[in-house]
Amino acid sequence: MDKISLPVNELALQPFTAFDPDGVLLVAGTHERANVMTISWGAFGIMWGKPVMMVMVRPTRHTWDFIRTAPDFSVNWMHAEWADAVRICGTQSGRDLDKFAATGLTPSPAARVTAPVIAQSELTLECRTLCHTDLKPEQFRDAALLPLYPQEDYHGLFFGEVLMATGMPRYRR
Ligand SMILES: Cc1cc2nc3c(=O)[nH]c(=O)nc-3n(C[C@H](O)[C@H](O)[C@H](O)COP(=O)(O)O)c2cc1C
Repeated sequence: MDKISLPVNELALQPFTAFDPDGVLLVAGTHERANVMTISWGAFGIMWGKPVMMVMVRPTRHTWDFIRTAPDFSVNWMHAEWADAVRICGTQSGRDLDKFAATGLTPSPAARVTAPVIAQSELTLECRTLCHTDLKPEQFRDAALLPLYPQEDYHGLFFGEVLMATGMPRYRR
């Protein structure tokens, strides 16, 4: 079944399970040079009066320089048959491996952003970065979070306005 353009306010995504079970694929860069990595931490909702998706990226990721300097990013949900590819994108770094070539995931032009989308996705959100802010250890109110950062690579938070949602019709509620 073909993917269709989906109204953002009718997306069938549950906020606490949207990234289960394997995570989703974050792509940043350009068609000529992009990187893909798996994420399972993030959020979406209304911020600054806009539909926003927030993703959390550690500065130790190869993706960091892409998303930090790019105007936008895409987030791609994959069918379970791509679980191996999603696992590779979450365990291998683009520093060592062209993950697109290794997995067969195909970068394809987006409708509204410069970052590629993944051709085989079941749902893609195209996001224009509105704000980037970095977590600092002194900001944590719960010290139990600090051991999550043995390398002190506190996440950068990237808030993207969702400009376009494209996916299978079942993602429309
Ligand atoms: C299921 C899963 C979820 C992940 N979620 C995140 C995340 O939200 N943020 C993050 O910085 N890394 C996350 N990672 C780790 C990166 O995907 C992993 O370090 C990856 O190899 C980074 O690739 P890169 O160096 O090409 O950017 C996750 C890994 C897995 C397997």
